Amino acid sequence: MTAATGEVMTSLVIHNAEQIITLEGSGPLRGESLRSVTTDARVSVGIQDGSIESVGRASGGDTELDASGCTVVPGFVDCHTHLPFFGWRADEDAARLSGIRYETLHREEGGIFRSARLLAEATDADALDFSLGLAGGMLRSGTTSFETKSGYGLSVEAELRQLRLARRLADAVPQTVVSTCLAAHAVPKDRSPGQWVGEAATELLPAAAAESLVRSVDIYVESIAFALEHAARLHEAAKPLGLGMRMHADQLEDGQGGSFAARWGFVSADHLNHTSLPAAGDIAASDTAAVLLPGATFTLRQNKKPPARHLIEEGAIIALGSDLNPGTSPIASMPFVMALACRIYGLRPLEALAASTVNSAHVCGLGDTVGRLAPGYRADVVVLDAPAFEHVCYRPDHDPVVAVICGGEVMYVAPGAEDRLRS
Ligand code: NIG
Ligand code: FE
Repeated sequence: MTAATGEVMTSLVIHNAEQIITLEGSGPLRGESLRSVTTDARVSVGIQDGSIESVGRASGGDTELDASGCTVVPGFVDCHTHLPFFGWRADEDAARLSGIRYETLHREEGGIFRSARLLAEATDADALDFSLGLAGGMLRSGTTSFETKSGYGLSVEAELRQLRLARRLADAVPQTVVSTCLAAHAVPKDRSPGQWVGEAATELLPAAAAESLVRSVDIYVESIAFALEHAARLHEAAKPLGLGMRMHADQLEDGQGGSFAARWGFVSADHLNHTSLPAAGDIAASDTAAVLLPGATFTLRQNKKPPARHLIEEGAIIALGSDLNPGTSPIASMPFVMALACRIYGLRPLEALAASTVNSAHVCGLGDTVGRLAPGYRADVVVLDAPAFEHVCYRPDHDPVVAVICGGEVMYVAPGAEDRLRS
């Protein structure tokens, strides 16, 4: 319907869902509230002009989507990806499968250095096309918001180029995108870690902030990369620019990153495979989110898992991300990530869902607009071929996505499900 003023008015009703999980409330969920996510049966979601209008009773819209037999949930929020990037590193994975360590490939200038070279050699158009293809796949698996990062630049100009590509990607996709400056990822060959971090603090971050390219800053703390003193330096530079701090922490060894991030008020500490129980307690007692990335643990075949249950029981804000990148996690599907989180980290299905919606939105700074099915929230909705949400984690090789609504628009309907949609 077109209004007299000329703007296009659209309404959509998703009706007759077997189960609907709204995650209503406010703020991130922790501990008990993470466990007590409730489900409703056979209610409808009304959408008007891109926002959720009602949950419960909704009558005929311009478009109707029949969700019978399905579970309806908020669109997934992937709070940790390494998009945009260019090219894969399958040969490195094969080398790892024959016993070579990630750290060895990194020292031999594969790994992050290789992806930096691939990106440098690609044209903007090729890098954008490659990343757009991945973002399209993410949409079809239900991801309606995601984070992008730099970190494959390794010089001020190349980092800014990657962030500008991230902005072009954001402008070209229907999803909501937030960007992070991964200012310290690998130590550039012609610099010491301290020199590079100094340059990042005084040149890169102010330039990225001046162009409003990012809302947070990230650092990879690991013996092959940067140290806690560098995180402190970046934190000092990020604060006056109004940028939050995040950290790749304790992924390959216990570098005390998790507790440092919590004590310094970082937005998140990500990975946490080697985080000790006392450090997990520090995170749980803080407002720093524990971002769990089981795709990387799975790909690297790491035996050491994050203390996920301890984090949950102690009340941490836990969130899930894909960590989509060509090295440690060539994985883009949040349903698969949630299945891995249950299978290898011991999350329960509804905890995994809350960690991939409301809590992940909180990490991205989007908690007031996405991650919940509540009136006024952006209408990002996923309809799943599952009579109850637990089926998604139970059947990891089944593509459960029937339809994806992003900003009120039906952006994807699975082959065979077209009959569910009526205009
Ligand atoms: O989150 N380990 C650091 N960063 C990425 C991997 C990047 C890469 O290998 O290209 C991660 O796992
Ligand atoms: Fe990462």
